[in-house]
Amino acid sequence: MTTKFEVLISKERIQGRVKEIGSEINRQYSERVSEISPLLVVGVLKGAFVFLADLVRELKIPCEIEFVSASSYGDSTESSGNVKFQNFISRDLKGREVLIVEDIVDTGLTMKKMLGEISNQGAEQVAVCSLLYKPSRKQVDIPIEFLGFEIDDKFVIGYGLDFDDRYRDLEEIVIYSPESEG
Ligand code: IMP
Repeated sequence: MTTKFEVLISKERIQGRVKEIGSEINRQYSERVSEISPLLVVGVLKGAFVFLADLVRELKIPCEIEFVSASSYGDSTESSGNVKFQNFISRDLKGREVLIVEDIVDTGLTMKKMLGEISNQGAEQVAVCSLLYKPSRKQVDIPIEFLGFEIDDKFVIGYGLDFDDRYRDLEEIVIYSPESEG
């Protein structure tokens, strides 16, 4: 990686925290899910794909995986607030334990809409697992049952997070600034 980016969270810290969150999920769901009724892990694309891939490999409980595509940013660092989903889950969610996996909760508007849609489809319980949370940007309250790191109001990229669809491949979480590009 180029040294022009300021690293906020190192690869080692991310890996350590993902393991801790995985253990916590295993503990909390061990009695609530089974081979007959596995945990349904729902990843929010595209940003959560790296986190979800690492996280599910820490799980020791039966699980199934779905993805939903959400967009509200385009090529800006400010959310438009106009959250759109593509390919929303078509399977039956009645009675299911659902865990939404997100890269970052910023304003909270994406998660609010996701929680609403999944509850409307009859899920038994819906919980949120987010790698990052920016409390200073909050517009709506979101219960985050499993959280990686709280961060300041900085636009970050890497480990799945993008600016204009770039930098998702970085192994660390770094602070984005236009001067860093090149
Ligand atoms: P919210 O609806 O404002 O909570 O935004 C959630 C979505 O915005 C996340 O899933 C990200 O895709 C994107 N987002 C918010 N903050 C950042 C950031 O700092 N870097 C990259 N993407 C972000």
